[in-house]
Amino acid sequence: RAKLSRYNTVDDAVDLIRRSSNIIILTGAGISTSLGIPDFRSKGTGLYSKLEHLGLSDPQEAFDIDVFKQDPTIFYSVAKDIVPAIDRYTPTHKFIAMLHEHGKLLTNYSQNIDNLEVMAGVPKDKLIQCHGSFGTASCIQCGYRIQGEKIFPDIKAGRIPECPRCVQNLRPAGGPPKRKRSAGADGKKRRRWGASAANSSDEDDDSEYDIPTAGIMKPDIIFFGEPLPDEFSKRLTEHDRDKVDLVIVIGTSLKVTPVSEIVSWLPSHIPQIYVSRQAVNHINFDIDLLGDCDVVITELCRRLGWDLNHEMVDPA
Ligand code: OAD
Repeated sequence: RAKLSRYNTVDDAVDLIRRSSNIIILTGAGISTSLGIPDFRSKGTGLYSKLEHLGLSDPQEAFDIDVFKQDPTIFYSVAKDIVPAIDRYTPTHKFIAMLHEHGKLLTNYSQNIDNLEVMAGVPKDKLIQCHGSFGTASCIQCGYRIQGEKIFPDIKAGRIPECPRCVQNLRPAGGPPKRKRSAGADGKKRRRWGASAANSSDEDDDSEYDIPTAGIMKPDIIFFGEPLPDEFSKRLTEHDRDKVDLVIVIGTSLKVTPVSEIVSWLPSHIPQIYVSRQAVNHINFDIDLLGDCDVVITELCRRLGWDLNHEMVDPA
């Protein structure tokens, strides 16, 4: 439902891109689904639908920092399926990199944690990974930070990664036994992770996960209940707000604050284009270009005369 605007058509969108030189691109999980990476909220195929078996009251709990601190098995039982394993990117990622090559990209605010923008060639100084990424991981007890890839083998093997520094500092020679916990995937009861549980004997559990008694590593993706990186609001308020001349939002349901508020927070005279499968009801854009984003973006590039030079990915 586009607002009453002097911009309406696909050609209007093309003209706007042609004459803009400071474009904000705001992206979400929809730009990676053609690679087989699930989004969050699409019914049936989205990650939150797939988490129904965990029996959570709200599937977002899998990414809630308080829940993680109480029971990291919930996140890690999900993480083994979302840890980045893909070395391809989509025409939409390529388009964002091309905007940069044409001197038109101001900033790409991405909510995605797959890091594919970087792979496509979006420079890091124009990319704000609003919800963090798997690129690094930190200990939730001591803050020790390591390269994210170092914990991928543990995640994929269904082990909870432990902090190498805490292990060194805290564990006596030989180390105490690890505590065992249910992954919860089978509907078994979960006990709280915390001081009160520390003395309980879990050895009888038919568990999938060993919980380290030393520090637990968590990928540096931003969980619900955690602040966004400082550069998010700094870049938006101090760098972008006075420069931006066009906003293009691609493949996000705009359900999660504060990223969803970027659009309404920018000056209202800045034209805004929305590219996604379905229109959103809570924000009015100047132009809605509805459909698979790779198809829409490829057509925009064709009309711009830009050689996207990227094979289409078959929709999963
Ligand atoms: P959502 O799953 O909420 O929204 C993805 C949107 O993209 C949906 O509206 C889909 O219809 C659309 N879509 C999917 N595939 C598409 C395609 N090929 N072409 C065009 N549109 C497509 O994902 P996000 O909006 O990114 O945060 O979710 C925002 C945040 O919510 C995530 O970063 C994550 C989640 O909770 C945290 O975990 C902190």
